[in-house]
Amino acid sequence: MQVGIDQIGFYTPNKYVDMVDLAEARNVDPNKFLIGIGQKKMSVADQTQDAVSMGINATLRYWNKIDQDKVGLMIFGTESSVDQSKSASLFVKSALHLKPEVRTFEVKEACFGLTAGLMMARDFVRVHPDQSAIVIGSDIARYGVNTPGEVTQGAGSISLLIKSDPSILSLNDGHSAYSEDINDFWRPNNHTTALVEGKYSTQVYLDFFSKTFGAYKELKGWKTQDFSAIICHLPYTKLGLKANRLAVEGQDEETSERLLTNFEASKQMSMQVGNIYTASLYMSLLSLLENTDLAPNSLLGLFSYGSGAMAEFYSGNIVDGYEEQLDPEADRLMLSERQKLSVSEYEKIFNKAMEVPEDGQELISDEKPGRWYFAGTKNEVRQYKQK
Ligand code: HMG
Repeated sequence: MQVGIDQIGFYTPNKYVDMVDLAEARNVDPNKFLIGIGQKKMSVADQTQDAVSMGINATLRYWNKIDQDKVGLMIFGTESSVDQSKSASLFVKSALHLKPEVRTFEVKEACFGLTAGLMMARDFVRVHPDQSAIVIGSDIARYGVNTPGEVTQGAGSISLLIKSDPSILSLNDGHSAYSEDINDFWRPNNHTTALVEGKYSTQVYLDFFSKTFGAYKELKGWKTQDFSAIICHLPYTKLGLKANRLAVEGQDEETSERLLTNFEASKQMSMQVGNIYTASLYMSLLSLLENTDLAPNSLLGLFSYGSGAMAEFYSGNIVDGYEEQLDPEADRLMLSERQKLSVSEYEKIFNKAMEVPEDGQELISDEKPGRWYFAGTKNEVRQYKQK
C-alpha cells in the first residue's frame, strides 16, 4: 500500500520586509543578503498571527476538499509554541470542528518537528489505511532586530494531509537519521528570540547532510543520479545551495544540472518568505512542485534538519497528476499581495509581536476576510477568531 502526501496547504502573514531595504538600514552591501545569504524578502508576523492561527490558515487551504470525518490523527510541530502545556493542535481542532475522536498533540525538535510528525503519520496510516492524518508545521523565526540572524527570519505554516493512495508524493520505506546533543541554536524558556552559534550551525547542517545522504544511499542501494531532485530544510537558501553542491560533487554534468535546476525551483518561495523552521523543508517541496514539471514516479530526496541537533534523509516518488492538487496562482497571490513594510515599521511590529497583550484587550487583525487570527486573551485563555 502506498502512503504519502495527498494535500499541501501554505500560509504566510500579510506583511514583508525587502532585503535591500534591510541591508541599507543595517549598512550592509545588499548583495550580501541577496547573494551571500540568498534571500529577497521575509514575511513578518504581527501580534495577531502566531503558530496556531497560521496553522489553521494553512490547513484551511485544503480543508473543504478532503473527507474530514476520516482524519484520525492531527500532529502539530512547532518551536513557536503558545502554551507550555496545551497543544497548539487543540486550537486548530476547535477552529476546524474536527471530530472529538481524533488523536491530537504537539511535537518539538526545532525544525525537525514537522518531519517527526510526518513519520508518525505515515506509520499511523499504514496501520489504519482507512484513516488520514494532518501534520502541521508552523513557526515564526525570530533572532532580533540588528542581529546577524535577522536576515534569516520569517513566518509561515505548511499543513499536510497524509493518506493511503496519496495524490502528490508517495513516501518510500526507510530513512537515515542522525542526532547529536549540541548547542548550535536553541531558545530557553525565558527568551523570545533564538540564541545561535551561527557559523557553527551551518557547519553542523552540512555535516549532517553528508552523513544522512550517504547513509540513505547505502541503505537503499541507490546512487545520486537516481534522484530527480534533492530538497532541503532552508534556513536561508544559500545553505541549501551548499548542500546541493555537496550532493553533486563528482557527478556527471546531466545529474549536476538536473539537481541544481530543481534546487533553484525549490528555493523560490523560501527566498520570499524566509525561514519558517518546521515548515521550511515542506515549503521547498511546494515550491519545487509549483515551479517545475516532474515526470510521474520522479524520485525526490528530502533532507530535514533541526538544531540541537537531529537530521533525517528520506525519499518519495511523484504521483501522476500531482499538479491537479496544487493552486500555484493562490500561493503566488498570497506572496504578491503582502504589504511592504519600511524597516522602521517592521521593527515596531516585530517588537510589539513579542509582547503579551493585556488580558481582556481585543486585538484587531488587518488580514483578508476568512483568515484566522489571535484576538488576545480573555481570563488568560487565548482567543482565535475568523476575520
Ligand atoms: P553572517 O556573519 O552575517 O554572514 O552570518 P557571513 O559574514 O558568513 O556572510 C554570509 C555569506 O555572504 C558568506 O558567503 C559571505 O562570503 C557572503 P559563504 O561564505 O557562506 O558562501 N557575502 C557576500 N556575498 C555577496 N556580496 C557581498 C557579500 N558579503 C558577504 N557583498 C549566518 C550568516 C547564516 C551565520 C547568520 O545569518 C545566522 O546566524 N543565521 C541564523 C542561524 C542559521 O540560519 N543557521 C543555519 C543552520 S542551523 C538550521 O538550519 C536550523 C534552524 O533553522 C533552526 C531550527 O532548527 O529550529 C536555524
